[in-house]
This record gives sequence, C-alpha cells and structure tokens, in this order.
Amino acid sequence: MKEQLEQIRQKTLAALNEAANSADLDALRVKVLGKKGELTALLKQMGGLSPEERPVMGQLANSVRAALEAKLEEKNAELQAAAMDLRLKAEAIDVTIPGTPVRTGSKHPMNKALDEVKDIFVGMGFSIVDGPEVELSDYNFTKLNTEEGHPARDRSDTFYLTDDDSVLLRTQTSPMQIRVMEKTKPPIRIIAPGRVYRKDEVDATHSPMFHQIEGLVVDKGVTMTDLKGTLENFAKQLYGEDAVIRFRPHHFPFTEPSCEVDVQCFECHGAGCRTCKGEGWIELLGAGMVHPKVLRGCGIDPEEYSGFAFGIGLERAAMRRFCIPDMRLVYENDMRFLSQF
Ligand code: DAH
Repeated sequence: MKEQLEQIRQKTLAALNEAANSADLDALRVKVLGKKGELTALLKQMGGLSPEERPVMGQLANSVRAALEAKLEEKNAELQAAAMDLRLKAEAIDVTIPGTPVRTGSKHPMNKALDEVKDIFVGMGFSIVDGPEVELSDYNFTKLNTEEGHPARDRSDTFYLTDDDSVLLRTQTSPMQIRVMEKTKPPIRIIAPGRVYRKDEVDATHSPMFHQIEGLVVDKGVTMTDLKGTLENFAKQLYGEDAVIRFRPHHFPFTEPSCEVDVQCFECHGAGCRTCKGEGWIELLGAGMVHPKVLRGCGIDPEEYSGFAFGIGLERAAMRRFCIPDMRLVYENDMRFLSQF
C-alpha cells in the first residue's frame, strides 16, 4: 500500500506539471482526490490492514493528500497569474500615443469688438440696455422726429411687418433713445447694442442685417464738446492712441446739430483705396445733440436738460479694429477666417 501511495503521489505530481489550464487541474483533482478518485479508493482498502499498520498508513495517506492538495493550489495560482499576465499584455493601452486633438472655439470677431466697445463705455460710466428688434413705427420713426412721408420711412428700405406699416424690423437702434427717455429721468448715460434691418443688397460693406450700438447721454449742461470728447476717447481706446477721426456736419431728424464721424482708413492711411472706396476715410457713426422736440416728446424739458446721442455701426468698427476688408467674411462662418481671432 505504501508503494501504491507513493506511485499516486509521483504520478499526480508529474501530471500536475503538465497541466496547461485550470480545467486540466480540475480533472486531475477529481481523478485522484474525488469521491471515486484513486487515492479515495486506496483509503477504502485501509479496513483490510492490521491494527498496527492502519494508523501509520492513515497518516501517510493524509500527508500525501495534503501535499497533493497544496500542490494543486499552488499550480492553480500559477496558471491564474500567467493567464492574467497574458490578458494584461493583450489589453495594454499605450498612454504615450498622442490623443485626438480637441478643436477649441474662439469668440466671433463681432462679439470681440462688441465686448471691447461695451468695456470702453462702461469705463466711462455708461450702462448697457437692450430692446426689441420688432419695433413700432412710432418708436423707430415718429417719436424720433421722422414724420410720415419722410423718405427714411420708404417701403423700399424698411421691412414692414403689417399692412398698415405700424410694426417693422427696426432700421436703427435709435428707438432705444425713446424707450429709455420715456422710462428714466435724467441723468441718463446708456448704450444699447443690437441687430438692425434694412433692405440692402449684400456687398463688401452692406448686409440686410447688421449691428448698431446706440448711445445716449442726457443731463443738465451737456454740450457738443462732451460728445466730441466722449467719441474721441472711444476711438482712441478702440483703435489706439494714433487713431485719427474727423467730425463732418450731417443731418439726422432727431439730432440738432448732427454730424458723422469717420475714422482714417486702416488700409491706406488716408491716401484712398478700395476698402475706403478712394475716400481715405471710413464712416464710423452718426451723432448729434438730441433734438429739443424729441426730448419734449419724452417728457424731458429741453430748457432744463440737454443731451447727445450717437449710433455706431458695429460691423464697420470691427472691420477697422481687426483689419477685415469685406463684411461678407463676418457672416459666412468660414472656419479658416474665424479661427484667426
Ligand atoms: N440711427 C442713425 C442711423 O442709423 C445713426 C445715428 C445718428 C444715431 C445720429 C444717433 C444719432 O443716435 O444721434 O443712421
């Protein structure tokens, strides 16, 4: 019996070395240590031994069993570790491979210019207000001293929304002057940026939708000098200390006197080129002293108060600021253009 035990031990250890996976190991465990296994069968024969031999053989059989169990366990751990190694190698991720680049967006040049303009005016004590793009003709025209029959109200220039022409897409941000003056007592110091609409053909300097920034200051003793100083300061902050601007007499129904402000062309510095249509100057804004009739219409006494107003074309300001030669670039959303800002 002792030899048989030894044989089982040797044989099993040899088979164990050959085992390639845990299924092999399980089969081996059943074959030797299982209920019908070789070692179990041998132990069942113990009854036939003498009382002296029985405990000796019993001990030997148990130690063989314990040794085989330990070996099986050990081999199992080994196989599992090897399998894990293989898996780790197969699933390895190379963290040094360069990743897929994420494309970051950037602010649209119009928004950049608008933010700069807002900052400049907020720095001068202005607050920012917002108003409707769908406007009453009353506010867009009549209350701005632009009576019925005035050429500015012509149907060929304005997008009217009703048959009686009482509602329209605002053609200017100037109705915000009225909306603010009707609600607020002076002192008033606001800017009102927003979209405006006109029946214009698209070209290098025109679009049927564009942006204006309205400005309005009303207080006691406000003069044309305040208007000039404010706009000069604005131009120098936006375009740099060496920016050159000029004031030109003009006519607007809602200001008296009125002017237009030009900025020297960024392409040709005044010599005249395609961008400025040979003028040397680019029109930047309209401005003037608020007409007494407009003040009175809003319940503000022109004997006590005076004010100035201006309307900046944001596209033109942005084009001058970023040296953009064609307005269409601003709206086409071509990434090659936009990613430059
Ligand atoms: N609203 C005028 C336009 O669209 C621009 C303008 C001129 C605004 C004079 C003003 C102003 O506030 O005082 O042409």
